[in-house]
Amino acid sequence: MRMYDMIRKKKSGKALTGEEIRFMTEGYAKGEIPDYQMSALMMAICFQGMTKEETLSLTLAMRDSGEMLDLSGIQGIKVDKHSTGGVGDKTSLVLAPMVAALGVPVAKMSGRGLGHTGGTIDKLECFPGFSTELTKEQFCQNVNRMKMAIMGQTAQLAPADKKLYALRDVTATVDQLSLIASSIMSKKLAAGADAIVLDVKTGSGAFMKEEKDAFALAKEMVEIGKSAGKKMAAVITDMDQPLGNAVGNSLEVKEAILALNGLGPQDLMEVVYALGTEMALAAEKADTREAAEELLKQTIQEKTALDKLAEFVEAQGGDKRYVYQPELLPAAAIQMQVINTEAGYVGGIQAEEIGLASLILGGGRMTKDSPIDLSVGVLLHKKRGQAVQPGEALATVYANDMERAKEAYGKVVQAFSIQPQAPKQASMVKGILR
Ligand code: URA
Repeated sequence: MRMYDMIRKKKSGKALTGEEIRFMTEGYAKGEIPDYQMSALMMAICFQGMTKEETLSLTLAMRDSGEMLDLSGIQGIKVDKHSTGGVGDKTSLVLAPMVAALGVPVAKMSGRGLGHTGGTIDKLECFPGFSTELTKEQFCQNVNRMKMAIMGQTAQLAPADKKLYALRDVTATVDQLSLIASSIMSKKLAAGADAIVLDVKTGSGAFMKEEKDAFALAKEMVEIGKSAGKKMAAVITDMDQPLGNAVGNSLEVKEAILALNGLGPQDLMEVVYALGTEMALAAEKADTREAAEELLKQTIQEKTALDKLAEFVEAQGGDKRYVYQPELLPAAAIQMQVINTEAGYVGGIQAEEIGLASLILGGGRMTKDSPIDLSVGVLLHKKRGQAVQPGEALATVYANDMERAKEAYGKVVQAFSIQPQAPKQASMVKGILR
C-alpha cells in the first residue's frame, strides 16, 4: 500500500477502503507518513468528501491509535456529554451535577478553551486547588462513589487525531464535516462511556454557522456512535448570541452556581434541560421526557445538584466553600459599563465578538499554552429581544488592565445590534437527533 496511490484515488473521487484508511492513520501516527502527503490527502477529502464507511473507518482507526479508557468498573450506564464549543457555554457545570444528583454516572472528559471559545477545565480551576489530573482508578472510584468525575483529555487518548488535527489546523482543512465528525467521535469513543449526548451548536459563535450544517454534523456523529455500539443523542442548539449572560471563567462559574440555586438565565436552562433529559433517558432514569425534566427540576429545587457540585469540587482537590460563597471567586479590578445610545430592541449579539472581547481581556488562550486570567470577561445585561433605552447598560466589561478594557469595550459595542422592532424569538433547541 502506498500513500501516493491513496492521494490519487481520493483526488479522483473514489472511496478509500477500510484497510487503506487504517494504514494511513497508523502510519501517520507513527511518523512513517510525512506531513506533506497527509496534507494532500486531507485537502483531497475536503474537495471530494468521504462516504459513511470511510468516516467510520477513520474514526475507529483514530480511536484505536491510543489508549481506550476502560470504565467497566463503574456500575450503571455511564454517560458523557460533549459540546462542539461556543461562547458563554457553562452548560456542563450546571448539567453534570444535576444529572449526577439523579444517580446517573457522569464520566466526563473535558478540554481547555482555545481562541474565542471557553473550556470546562479552565472554569473549574477557578476553585482553588481543583485538578482534573486524575488517575484512571481515581476517576472510576469517584464516579462510583458520587456519580461524577471530570478528567482532562490525556495525550494517550486518540493520538492520531491529535496529530492530524494540528496538521488540519495549519493547512485550512479543519472545516470538512466528516473530518470534524471523526475527530470528535474518535476521542469520545476512546473515553469509554456507554452513552454520549452531543450539544451541536449553530450560529455566529459556533463552528457550524448554518443550521443545516449543524444538523448534518450531528447526524454523522450520531451514526458513527451508534455503529460503534453507543447510545447516542445530539441536541442542536443556538449559539448565535452568547449562552446565558456571563462570558469569562469566573463570571461563568458564578452564573452556573446561580443556576444551581434556581436563578439561571432562561436560555441557558433551556439548553441544560434539553441535554439533561437526553442524558437521563439514555441512562434509563426516566421513561419519558416529561418525567426526566421533572426529576431534573427537583435537583435544583432541593439543592441536591448544588451539593453535588460541592462534593465533586472537594473530591477533585478544590475548595468547596466557593460553591456556597461564590463572592470568593476571582474578581477583576476594573468594571466598565457599556452604555446604550438608541431606543429599540436588541436584534442580536454576535457571539464571536463577545468571545473575542473576553480573549482580549486575557480570559482566553491565543495559543495552546498561554496563561489565562480567570477573573476577566463580559457580563451581558441585555439579550436578544429585550427592549433598551438610551443610557441603559448593555453589558459590563470586567478587566485588570485599562487599555485592554477599552479595546474589549469596542468589541462589545460592535457585537450588539439595536433595531426598532422586536426580533422574532426562536427556541434555543433547533432539533434533537437520536
Ligand atoms: N473539534 C475537534 O475535536 N475536532 C475537529 O475537527 C473540530 C472541532
